[in-house]
Amino acid sequence: MQNVSRDRVILAYSGGLDTSVAVKWINETYGLDVVTYTCDLGQGQDIEAIRQKALRTGAVHAIAEDVRNLFLDYFVFPSLMAGALYEGKYPMATALGRPLIAQRMVHYAREQGATAVAHGCTGKGNDQVRFDVTFQTLAPDLRIIAPVREWKWTRSEQLAFARQHGIPLEAASEKIYSVDQNIFGRSVESGVLEDPWVEPPAEAFEWTVDPRQAPDEPVYVTIGFERGKPVALDGQPLDGVPLLERLNRLAGEHGVGRIDHVENRLVGIKSRELYEAPAAVVLHEAHRELEFLTLSKDALRFKTYVSQAYADLIYNGLWFSAFHQDLMAFVVSNQQYVTGEVRLKLYKGHCQVVGRRSEYSLYRHELATYEKGDQYDATAAQGFIKIHGLMQTTQAKHQMLKGPGGSGRLELPSIIPPDTEG
Ligand code: ARG
Repeated sequence: MQNVSRDRVILAYSGGLDTSVAVKWINETYGLDVVTYTCDLGQGQDIEAIRQKALRTGAVHAIAEDVRNLFLDYFVFPSLMAGALYEGKYPMATALGRPLIAQRMVHYAREQGATAVAHGCTGKGNDQVRFDVTFQTLAPDLRIIAPVREWKWTRSEQLAFARQHGIPLEAASEKIYSVDQNIFGRSVESGVLEDPWVEPPAEAFEWTVDPRQAPDEPVYVTIGFERGKPVALDGQPLDGVPLLERLNRLAGEHGVGRIDHVENRLVGIKSRELYEAPAAVVLHEAHRELEFLTLSKDALRFKTYVSQAYADLIYNGLWFSAFHQDLMAFVVSNQQYVTGEVRLKLYKGHCQVVGRRSEYSLYRHELATYEKGDQYDATAAQGFIKIHGLMQTTQAKHQMLKGPGGSGRLELPSIIPPDTEG
């Protein structure tokens, strides 16, 4: 019997328990037909198998596509050029993936004539924000459904629902951590990691070896950049995907890329997250070093503000903002001469830059050298020093060395008034 076709929803589908249960739950609760969306961001899963599972679970249609190149070209590499590390630590694999997934879902919502979009994020994290803000920005007419945020189930209630609806529980029962991964890194949280005093146990890591088990000999790797974008490994031009894959493997084998972060979520809580991001750590390190060689002092200093603002907007889900476009304009201009090579040594969990070179290098041997060939005018230094220090020497003479006791010390008032007056 052919049903009257119902309204459709595009559900971000990972193939895990939450989103599998969500297929059935949305069917029952909202009376919508579910079209699932799954993409390959380099997480190392068989997306065709996930697509098949979606159909078995009750999706009327299931979409799976490889978006790794879009991810690298439009999200990962710009973030690298921007030097965007959240709170100076987290390269943001997860955060960078969300706006792309959401944008692709909007695309398919239009194609499928869907009236709603859905995701499996909880109500406590940043990912719900990144999805919802992107949907609201790109497609304000679409209804947003967030089953995990809406059903108020305990774990066992959820499992009961799954069993009733014949959803296979295989992988789900033994999961100790919540993991999200893509080509730019792996994010791990919950379980024993919720105690920030507890050292992450060995089984929390999958992409990096324990530095103690890493090879006893270091490995050297040379990364080539063009205008801030990595384009070659050991002198060999490489596309983004193979470049990231190789670097993840190589750095991971040497125990490089472990990040332990107690981070400030947008929603007001601190959470402890463990990251494995071998390629990301190496690339950020190398890129920064090339900037030291090729950016002027002012550009370098100003860039740190831009990097921070850029990281915050990515983390906070504001990718599709005009402010981002503004920052991007700066970054592209700023990266104009960040072309060259950086040589790094990977050794037992450490990643150390040992060499850098560029046709645009601002390091000039003829200015820096103490040997012959010196072109620096040292006699000009004396006059420069006088003027440079003039305000400070004037102030010392007329204020600091003259003030109470001549100590220049200041007693600071408290910002907190006393409880009672007088
Ligand atoms: N805390 C990271 C972020 O907000 C990762 C979130 C997903 N983590 C996870 N283990 N499922 O970007």
